[in-house]
Amino acid sequence: MTLTIDICPLAELPPGERRIVSFEDVEIGVFNCNGELLAIEDRCSHDDGPLAEGELDAAACTVECPRHGSVFDLRTGKPMTLPAYMPVDTFPVLVEDGLIKLEVD
Ligand code: FES
Repeated sequence: MTLTIDICPLAELPPGERRIVSFEDVEIGVFNCNGELLAIEDRCSHDDGPLAEGELDAAACTVECPRHGSVFDLRTGKPMTLPAYMPVDTFPVLVEDGLIKLEVD
């Protein structure tokens, strides 16, 4: 079943910023890439690194895993560089009445 969870007012996540939220046993990073809102699981597919804490390239919409440096596409969750080769989960992001929301299963 898909649930919608509230994250924060849009004004609190300006371009270039991120927010890490917990839902049940999953950590999720929500990013504002130059106005595009994207969310991925905060767990690298290579070795469980804290992916959403990595360096954000807002122009390219990528984040670099701080543990071993794989760069992930925030739109698809796919790694663009090794050592990771498996994608991470992505989550739909909505904005309703000025509030950022996330759809989770
Ligand atoms: S844990 Fe992310 S690249 Fe190794």
